[in-house]
Amino acid sequence: FLAALAELRNAAPLRRESENIWEVFRYAETLRAMSDYETFSSDTSGVIPPDPALERLNRGSFVRMDPPQHRKLRRLASQAFTPRMVAQLGPRIRELTTELLDEVAGQGRIDLVRDVAYPLPVTVIAEMLGVPVADRDKYRRWATALFEGGRSDSTLPSEERMAVVRENVLEMIEYLRRHIEIRRDDARDDLTTKLVEAEVDGERLDDDEISAFMMLLLVAGHVSTTALLGNMVLCLDENPVAGAEVRADRDLVPAAIEETLRLRTPFTRMVRVTTREVELGGTTLPKSALVILWLAAANRDERQFPDPDRFSLHRDPNPHVSFGHGIHFCLGAPLARLESKIALNLLMDRYAKLSVDWDAVRYTDANSLLSASELPLDVVP
Ligand code: HEM
Repeated sequence: FLAALAELRNAAPLRRESENIWEVFRYAETLRAMSDYETFSSDTSGVIPPDPALERLNRGSFVRMDPPQHRKLRRLASQAFTPRMVAQLGPRIRELTTELLDEVAGQGRIDLVRDVAYPLPVTVIAEMLGVPVADRDKYRRWATALFEGGRSDSTLPSEERMAVVRENVLEMIEYLRRHIEIRRDDARDDLTTKLVEAEVDGERLDDDEISAFMMLLLVAGHVSTTALLGNMVLCLDENPVAGAEVRADRDLVPAAIEETLRLRTPFTRMVRVTTREVELGGTTLPKSALVILWLAAANRDERQFPDPDRFSLHRDPNPHVSFGHGIHFCLGAPLARLESKIALNLLMDRYAKLSVDWDAVRYTDANSLLSASELPLDVVP
């Protein structure tokens, strides 16, 4: 898959994938499209009409909105993700990771995804939102259904896949709405209560907006971080010299995280829609064209990154686009970085040796998400 992207990137900055779909493979063009939100809109509803059953979802999901609507909701959500708020989560993340590792203590083989990379981020985000951690298997099922639904070699999922998505999303919305109701009567110090009480331009958010908002956080907030934690261990196993260097000098952990994000980009692509005719990378795109930005290809563009396929702990700066760029830059980036830093440090503290059983690694089936779904590790304390 990455080899195919490399070939496409070298052939041309853009490719016309089908009648109305263009794909972008190079760094400069990707950055330009993400910077110019007036021309490259995040609101795809005009070109990919949303399923009527899911229409309500779009009202709170600000990742698919343009300004000024986007600005209002993002400002509200940002309150929960200030560097101070995120830093305060450090001790709890450390405690949770320790508990998870204690549960598998004494075992010579663990599954990193099942034992740490999945439960850690989903527990953190569930606690932030104030939804029951005990239901985390449900959150996983819903998130998997969403990503499986988006799985496709084309960008438009089939009717069958949509039916699965619809069923799961509706179930999830109903579940979240029940929790919103509970918080209306029983305010707590959590994000759901903040959303219930928040006012945007003097108006309260309605239940549809709040549940879509919660769903965005609950799904975006764990799937990607699960991917990152697994990818980190894969990258360090694949690059033993770098792995040993990080072990010897823990100040290199953040660099290892950034380089993992660049080389194993969790969300491989983003979608935009043109609001006017525009020239990009020597190609004239019509108005209302669907533009797929391949972040995974931009992150390995040799025009931006020297020796792009090499895992290096000394790329400084490392301006990868794995968290996006511009007004939609990932709100959860500080949280994802903190969780992965704590998890990698504690894994290395606990185990002198972590070896990936490559033949047994399984990946999610979606080409939009680069993530292991099973990651067996042989471990030596
Ligand atoms: C946006 C990636 C973790 C919440 C984004 C975008 C990317 C991204 C690429 C931009 C979308 C676009 O431009 O269309 C990632 C990766 C993560 C991660 C790779 C982990 C490694 C998180 C976490 C949370 C989160 C932990 C929350 C708890 C969000 C939200 C947005 C977003 C709310 C929408 C921001 C906006 O539209 O203004 N993320 N994310 N993400 N992410 Fe993340």
